[in-house]
Amino acid sequence: MEIPEAGRVGAESMARLLGNWSPAGRPSAEALHSALRRLVLAGQLPPGTRLPPERELARRIGASRNLVTGALDRLREQGFVRSRRGAGSWIGLPPTAGGTADSGGWYPPREGESINFAQATPAAPTEVFEAVERVSEEFPARFHGHGYQPQGLTELRERVARRFEERGLPTDPDQVLITNGAQHAFALVLRTLLMPGQRVLLEHPTYPNALEAVRGVRALPLPVPMVEGRWDVELLEATLAQGAPRLAYLVPDFHNPTGALMSAAERERLGDALRRHRTTAVVDETLVDIDLSDEEPPPPLAAFAESRTITVGSASKSFWGGLRLGWLRAPHELVQRMVLGRAAIDLGSPVFEQLVLAELLEHADEASRRNRARIRCRRDCLVTALREHRPRWTFTLPEGGLSLWCHIGSRRAGRLVAAAEQRGVRLASPGRFAVEGDFEDRLRLPYSLPEDRLRQAVRRIAEADGSLTDSGASDLVT
Ligand SMILES: Cc1ncc(COP(=O)(O)O)c(C=O)c1O
Repeated sequence: MEIPEAGRVGAESMARLLGNWSPAGRPSAEALHSALRRLVLAGQLPPGTRLPPERELARRIGASRNLVTGALDRLREQGFVRSRRGAGSWIGLPPTAGGTADSGGWYPPREGESINFAQATPAAPTEVFEAVERVSEEFPARFHGHGYQPQGLTELRERVARRFEERGLPTDPDQVLITNGAQHAFALVLRTLLMPGQRVLLEHPTYPNALEAVRGVRALPLPVPMVEGRWDVELLEATLAQGAPRLAYLVPDFHNPTGALMSAAERERLGDALRRHRTTAVVDETLVDIDLSDEEPPPPLAAFAESRTITVGSASKSFWGGLRLGWLRAPHELVQRMVLGRAAIDLGSPVFEQLVLAELLEHADEASRRNRARIRCRRDCLVTALREHRPRWTFTLPEGGLSLWCHIGSRRAGRLVAAAEQRGVRLASPGRFAVEGDFEDRLRLPYSLPEDRLRQAVRRIAEADGSLTDSGASDLVT
């Protein structure tokens, strides 16, 4: 199938994108191949992008024509580049594109892959199986009516509302819309409130699929850097004032990927700024239950700017991603607009899973306590393994969430992702968390897998990293 043209990249832009592609000043076809592959995987050269002529590229990056041809030939073999005589070359979608480390890992394992470290998604705990059994017993009695409920089952909305109330945010069940996950909720919000070309403020780094959703509706991402792993509220205020974004997408409760938690004082100040600048915040609370600290949690951000927030939640991390259920909480009128808008997409969420989630929420405190204890052990296990195998890597111990945002000391993440892949570990390319730039000195390491897998993964990643160090490349700091 032909891939539609996605624009052209000139030799000069390509050279800029490639940056320091030849480690230690030793250019090789292999190094150029890896660098180009990385750019494709990180989405910086989207499928369909036309490439500059080989001769021009060679001249611009100071390499021989043969070297460039060698690198492109390999990319062609792998399906990353396609060419036609007279039409030049363009970026292709490799047959296993689904299986790339950078597509978020939503694809079946590839040959030789045994550890998926690209996602922070725990397997279902026993509570989910127990809830399924309980619901199965009573389900036949629920088989009445047509089963379509675009806003979601009343009893589930009531339980979601009650959870908000327990956290200090009084909520009417009619302010709740049940969705097929937090990502779906965010997509519904974007579809309802945003026009192409409008701006959306995002933390930088941010959750990659949220960024994809923003790009998908042709809105303009407005990144605000996290400074030393925390929010710079002054900078957020200034961006709200100057950038006038229509929406802000924020993950204040165990931010993905840094794991940071926004303080109550920061929430208050930000809530105030949202009201003043009339920007609506979509507050993603997907990770709120993965609280690994012993501190009293701050109130929900919505408690500080009720009319200017849409809160998005999910069953995925608290219980299981396979339920594919989430919710959003918003002012009544907005919920009704989204219920109507939803008719164009999916007409509602599955009834059986909603009953399972309602059942799980009924006993949520106990399940959550066990889940947090399990995740805390895994986090500590990952930290111990890293201190043993990669003592120079640094990170802030997250107060919650499911991943470490590691500083690996130099700009080699892309090559490390590729080397780990060869050892059967799929990592998320850190470029996916970036609105611009690449976070080449970072790696997100999830601690959602059982301990033995975590240790095995760290050993293999360290081995992969060692192979780069052996070639002298990892000490380059650029
Ligand atoms: C911050 C954040 N938002 C949303 C999601 C996706 O949630 P869901 O599975 O409910 O669509 C994730 C999953 O990792 C996440 O980390």
